[in-house]
Amino acid sequence: MAQFLRFPENFFWGTATSAHQVEGNTNNDWSEWEQSEKRLKELRSKNLDPKDFISGLACDHYNRYERDFDLALALNTNAHRFSIEWSRVEPEEGKFNEAEIEHYRKIAKALRGRGLEPFVTLWHLPFPLWLSHRGGWLAPKSDFYFARYAEKIAASLKGDVRFWLTLNEPEIYASHSYFLGYQPPQKKNIFLYVRIVNKLMEAHKAAYSAIKKIDPDAQVGLAKNNTYFEACRGIFPEALFKKFIDWWWNFRFLDVLRDHQDFIGLNYYFHVRIEGRRFNRNSTPWTNDLGWEIYPNGIYRVLKDLKKYQKPVYITENGLADAKDGSRKEFIKQHLLWIHRAIQEGVDARGYFYWSLLDNFEWTHGFAPRFGLYEMDYKTQERKRRQSALYYAEICKNNGVEI
Ligand code: FCB
Repeated sequence: MAQFLRFPENFFWGTATSAHQVEGNTNNDWSEWEQSEKRLKELRSKNLDPKDFISGLACDHYNRYERDFDLALALNTNAHRFSIEWSRVEPEEGKFNEAEIEHYRKIAKALRGRGLEPFVTLWHLPFPLWLSHRGGWLAPKSDFYFARYAEKIAASLKGDVRFWLTLNEPEIYASHSYFLGYQPPQKKNIFLYVRIVNKLMEAHKAAYSAIKKIDPDAQVGLAKNNTYFEACRGIFPEALFKKFIDWWWNFRFLDVLRDHQDFIGLNYYFHVRIEGRRFNRNSTPWTNDLGWEIYPNGIYRVLKDLKKYQKPVYITENGLADAKDGSRKEFIKQHLLWIHRAIQEGVDARGYFYWSLLDNFEWTHGFAPRFGLYEMDYKTQERKRRQSALYYAEICKNNGVEI
């Protein structure tokens, strides 16, 4: 007899995407940057073909969402996370495009019509051009702009959407765009970096209040990328570094915004070992196609650390780039086993969204990384189910993992 580890009743099983990565034909600061002279030069200097790094038509999900949601349904999922492309709905400051808002209303209805609960992200990295030209989050009134947009969308989708994520991975954005400087706007400035983190907190608070004003029953959170930092020795300096980095990277946002979140959205991808004064990755040989270490136990650790907030947790992203699909099944299984254990130990995890439904445009890495449960042929726009998708579909159907 097969034995199952069952998940709580009404657990959300889902997949996740974001607008710029799947929709195609977006017109925002990212699409502008992808085609900028600076970026093209950088790619050519590395002998890379720029066309693999321009989002272009991507998965044409903007036009194909109905069929894509059928694919999500074929996996027996009961939820789906997507993002609204701000640049479409507010192409000019303060002027909302009702036809585009209607498009997203249709998306929410298309999901609900299939029994897929929509989880909607309001900002998953790109800005409308008018805002990026004013400095993005550094623009003097950025929190006001964001709240106005959030309010408009919440009012328009009220009744069709219950779960909202204001921001996606604010700490990753701040670090990659303002500290490490390899994402637009490519700044490397620690002072700006800290300012951006604070701006993002303000933006979240403003949007949270705006949504709750429209719909007090709405559930509002954000997608937080928490990393498992492991101190190799429990003594100085490792233990001290761990304390600091846990606070700065994992907890500060959540601490400050404790009263402005109905749930915690968790994106888990990374394990970092602190050895001496160094942060190291890849201590185990199991890696994905991007060289990221696969470390399922880390999701248990970060979940346990979230217990102190006493809020429901939705795992809003977890996945891997695996073109050959050789590791995906085991990846999903091992992560779910650890999530299950965290639940047994009192963590209130209520959902899991695999990243991603389809292969898509992986930001600075372009189209090469393959995160999808469905494989994309970008030339023909054909979607092909990967073997691991069948495995995930079984889990969703059984609300449990066979062991
Ligand atoms: C996360 C992003 C998501 C995707 C995955 C692989 O950090 O939120 O858009 O790129 O990584």
